[in-house]
Amino acid sequence: MANQLDPHILIIYGASGDLAQRKLIPAVFDLYRGGYLPEKFALLGASRTDYTDEAFREKVLFENEFMQDKGYDEEQLKAFSKLLFYQDLKAYDGPEDAKKLKAKLEKLGKRFGTGSNYIFYLSTPPKLYSSIPKALAEVGLNKPENGWSRLVVEKPFGYNEESAKQLNEELQSVFRENDIYRIDHYLGKETVQNLLVTRFANGFFEPLWNRNYIQSVQITAAETVGVGSRGGYYDESGALRDMIQNHLLQVLAHVAMEPPIRADAYSIRGEKMKLFQSLREIKGDEVANYVVRGQYDAGTTKEGDVEAYRDAEGVPDDSMTETYVAMKFFIDNWRWAGVPFFIRTGKCLPLKVTEVVITFKNPPQAIFAGYDDYAMKCDNQLIMRIQPDEGMAMEFGMKVPGEGFRVKNVDMDFFYRDLTTKDVPESYSRLLLDCMKGDPTLYARGDSVEQAWAFVDPILKAWENNEAPLARYTAGTWGPEEADRLWDGITGASWRNPAESLTEDKHYTKL
Ligand code: BG6
Repeated sequence: MANQLDPHILIIYGASGDLAQRKLIPAVFDLYRGGYLPEKFALLGASRTDYTDEAFREKVLFENEFMQDKGYDEEQLKAFSKLLFYQDLKAYDGPEDAKKLKAKLEKLGKRFGTGSNYIFYLSTPPKLYSSIPKALAEVGLNKPENGWSRLVVEKPFGYNEESAKQLNEELQSVFRENDIYRIDHYLGKETVQNLLVTRFANGFFEPLWNRNYIQSVQITAAETVGVGSRGGYYDESGALRDMIQNHLLQVLAHVAMEPPIRADAYSIRGEKMKLFQSLREIKGDEVANYVVRGQYDAGTTKEGDVEAYRDAEGVPDDSMTETYVAMKFFIDNWRWAGVPFFIRTGKCLPLKVTEVVITFKNPPQAIFAGYDDYAMKCDNQLIMRIQPDEGMAMEFGMKVPGEGFRVKNVDMDFFYRDLTTKDVPESYSRLLLDCMKGDPTLYARGDSVEQAWAFVDPILKAWENNEAPLARYTAGTWGPEEADRLWDGITGASWRNPAESLTEDKHYTKL
């Protein structure tokens, strides 16, 4: 398997930072352990701190708590550490930096026989996303002779549609679109990919997957954590930018896009783009009716007592940044005409859970209505649990034994863990491996990132102009009550909370 990949060097900018230690280095090590890396491979960390190769290895491998946590084999770690090198930089994007980096890469290329194949991973502050690639281009590292060069760009990709467009233009002026990998770690989740398999590998869902049979679709991504020490970053971002513009619109695309002709990058990413183009704009004066923004006050969550968002480190006392968003919207195409879609996400909610719930329409006649309130409820649901306790459940009505026709809801469930005894690969390992293969299917394409921004931009603008209120919610609850009103007029359906409250939560919630 390993020799299917071209030899190459992976360069991580921002290698001493949080993401590199938490996710990237462990992900590369997992690929190493699994035998997925090419035989000829090296990793070069680059950042501003002054490390020797040895000190860098110590920091990111032997002293890294996210490596220690996993209980890795010491011998394997030592062998892997020999593939790690370090280059300190002055400013990341200065001409001298690029020259130094090039010289180091040439040396490593000869030593490891990797030639001039490079992946540049930008795990740096976003303001460097366009200047580092330009500096690389100055010394020809964007188009190496006899080799290839790929660029991985972390989120956030832009701050709004305009800045995303500008960033695309700048990157595309030095790298080919196919060599630009915009990472969204939700696309690396097995269960997000499984949404496509559920829909397109099965005959029986397909006829039902449209406006004729589906009453509503809801996507929830709840988190128990607050902003912790990320207040400085988060306050500039907020939940809409942090979770919805990228991760949850990608999940939505998997749920709602048309069937691609093939399971390749061109077809899948083309269908996603069409889906994003069909999102009905929520205009400024509609925002207050369709989108609820909220911010948490002090309370108790599973993580313990939490101070109010406005009291968190790096957050101004009068911050209007949303830590919760619930929204309702429509997709204007043939498949989904008239079907309401709901998305909600928030920090400091009772559970960490991401799920998609498809609610089906009731049968046309409620012939058992006399026996209980069945006719008033819409109980045929398909629940696709993205995380944790990954799996699926179908809810439907069955006859309660005994006289008459009393109907009771029952579940049929499937747990993803039953499908394999192997460890399910972490998002970052899977996505890095795809980039090493040169397969961008699970990365976001430039035009669709812009299109996703185009959908959220009017909402952000309305909020900036204070055209919609900021609701408050107590940490540890399911968010502001205002979010329930989004379901007004939809009979028998509402937000599906996996557990009603913290006290009822039994660690694993019912799927
Ligand atoms: C990140 C956001 O992209 O995704 C975080 O910046 C959020 O705020 C995280 O907590 C959620 O990811 P996951 O995989 O834990 O659902």
